[in-house]
Amino acid sequence: MKSELIVINRPKSGISEAIKTIRTNLQFSSIDRKVKSILVTSSFSGEGKSFISANLAASFAQTGSKVLLVDCDMRRGRQHIIFGLDNDEGLSNLLITNVSKKFGHYIQRTGIDNLYVLPMGVVPPNPSELLASDKNKQLTQILEDEFDMIIYDGVPVGGLTDSVIMADLVDKIVIVCAYKQTPMEMLQNTKRSLDNFKDKIAGVIVNKMPSPKNHYYNNYYN
Ligand SMILES: Nc1ncnc2c1ncn2[C@@H]1O[C@H](COP(=O)(O)OP(=O)(O)O)[C@@H](O)[C@H]1O
Ligand SMILES: [Mg+2]
Repeated sequence: MKSELIVINRPKSGISEAIKTIRTNLQFSSIDRKVKSILVTSSFSGEGKSFISANLAASFAQTGSKVLLVDCDMRRGRQHIIFGLDNDEGLSNLLITNVSKKFGHYIQRTGIDNLYVLPMGVVPPNPSELLASDKNKQLTQILEDEFDMIIYDGVPVGGLTDSVIMADLVDKIVIVCAYKQTPMEMLQNTKRSLDNFKDKIAGVIVNKMPSPKNHYYNNYYN
């Protein structure tokens, strides 16, 4: 467990420094209104959304903010695996209950101070409908009152409406792409899909860059 939580396990590493820089840039990305919610999305599966959102959430928690990481990928989310948590109940289950009364029941503590996780829950037949529901909108508002920062681990934009639905509900969006894997055309399509929310796009994270020190990004997180 937690081997992917580089900011905790290897705080002095290059990637931890890079995540810290992203954290700082996000904190400064809005001047008049404090950034309270961030959606992490990408063009397709495997570019590193879950890896980045877990580390970004841990990094915000290290500043003393009370942080919630929400796994919105109700098809193939894996935050419960990254944090070694139970996934018997999570976001999908919560969204069919009375969210204002029950949300606390589904949020789990992690071993990391100030960091909480709402796992994906059981795979529902209709993830997009759940995210588009009034209950989900209500939930995002409740969470803003309860936490200083909420990071949403999204789904890829390609072919799915889920991330576009979530884009409407957050303050900022970061797009993850993978070095030498994400074709520029796909990244442009992703940006275009989020055109209605372009003022919210804080930036693009280029993940999986080989560093000059080590060439094997599979062994070393860059
Ligand atoms: N910077 C990185 N260096 C090495 N492996 C990475 C890096 N980012 C992600 N991975 C690995 O790539 C795989 C896909 O990442 P994941 O975060 O699950 O992508 P997504 O959520 O976008 O589908 C995982 O096995 C993850 O550990
Ligand atoms: Mg993921």
